[in-house]
Amino acid sequence: MPGGSFCRRVPKDEDNPAADKGMQGMDQPIISVRGLNKTYASGHQALRNINLEIRRGEIFALLGPNGAGKTTLINIICGIVNPSKGLVQADGHDIVRDYRAARRKIGLVPQELTSDAFESVWRTVSFSRGLFGKAPNPAWLEKILRDLTLWEKKDNRIMTLSGGMKRRVMIAKALSHEPQILFLDEPTAGVDVELRREMWEMVRGLRANGVTVILTTHYIEEAQEMADRVGVINKGEIILVEDKKVLMRKLGKRQLTLSLQAPLSALPPALAQENLELSADGLTLIYSFDTQGEQTGIADILRRLGEHGIDFKDLHTKESSLEEIFVGLVKGRS
Ligand SMILES: Nc1ncnc2c1ncn2[C@@H]1O[C@H](COP(=O)(O)OP(=O)(O)OP(=O)(O)O)[C@@H](O)[C@H]1O
Ligand SMILES: [Mg+2]
Repeated sequence: MPGGSFCRRVPKDEDNPAADKGMQGMDQPIISVRGLNKTYASGHQALRNINLEIRRGEIFALLGPNGAGKTTLINIICGIVNPSKGLVQADGHDIVRDYRAARRKIGLVPQELTSDAFESVWRTVSFSRGLFGKAPNPAWLEKILRDLTLWEKKDNRIMTLSGGMKRRVMIAKALSHEPQILFLDEPTAGVDVELRREMWEMVRGLRANGVTVILTTHYIEEAQEMADRVGVINKGEIILVEDKKVLMRKLGKRQLTLSLQAPLSALPPALAQENLELSADGLTLIYSFDTQGEQTGIADILRRLGEHGIDFKDLHTKESSLEEIFVGLVKGRS
């Protein structure tokens, strides 16, 4: 799927030119969430004091385990769920007070696929555009359907499409009104590897055309592949927001594991340092080091162990993955 030009690079809002031209600088975050809380009627607190800014034109991946609050957060920003407390702005528009203007900026591909099974692809997508009060623009719709390789299917009923095609129809619907911000809630759950790669390609194409993309995913590989920045949410709290490259550098950690000849009751004080750990049974030493650093420090550690008469019978190294860091982060908070 070619990463075609989905959206105009220069944002334009026919209704409220001031919103884009002067009042809202291009360096301002496109989404701003402040002090956001959500307690559902059941009494369950799904979001706790969320503060988050999404930068204009970035791909932001929101990672978190089941039930962390990802969909709740997205649905609040998109005006589908009411916040209990806090402020959300989309391109300078308050999502509660200025709902229509805010919502027009946003396209949402929801986690649950919903569409009218008996309608044709073309009518479904045209109807979506109409909901936003946009004048018909068949050329635009043709373009998105072609870019999503759905053009051949435009007259087919949704029910006759495969799962992957239905997912693409959801994306076409979300893009029908030319939004500047696209939310993809688990876009590739249950999607095969090939289609997943096509989706990634498409998302990159969107970004190249100035669209800001926020996606949630369980596939850490997806965040690793796509995102400019990554946010981790757990139990309704944002526990980390980081530039992906910075995160990757942190992930570049490796571990050297040394199986000792004889158990140690404690590390000699001269060897006590943050990145050297003794296992509870005293039989294993774990040394963590940074692969990006100029020197691993392994030679130095081995020399110092020798000086202290600590012998080992085996050693191996292991690289920690984003998965492990993520699991560690989430577990550490539970
Ligand atoms: N309408 C609702 N009423 C009551 N509780 C809800 C409602 N919707 C969601 N919740 C609860 O809020 C919490 C967050 O749910 P949410 O759907 O936002 O999680 P999520 O991070 O998107 O999870 P998943 O990865 O499974 O999609 C969960 O405990 C969920 O059960
Ligand atoms: Mg969800």
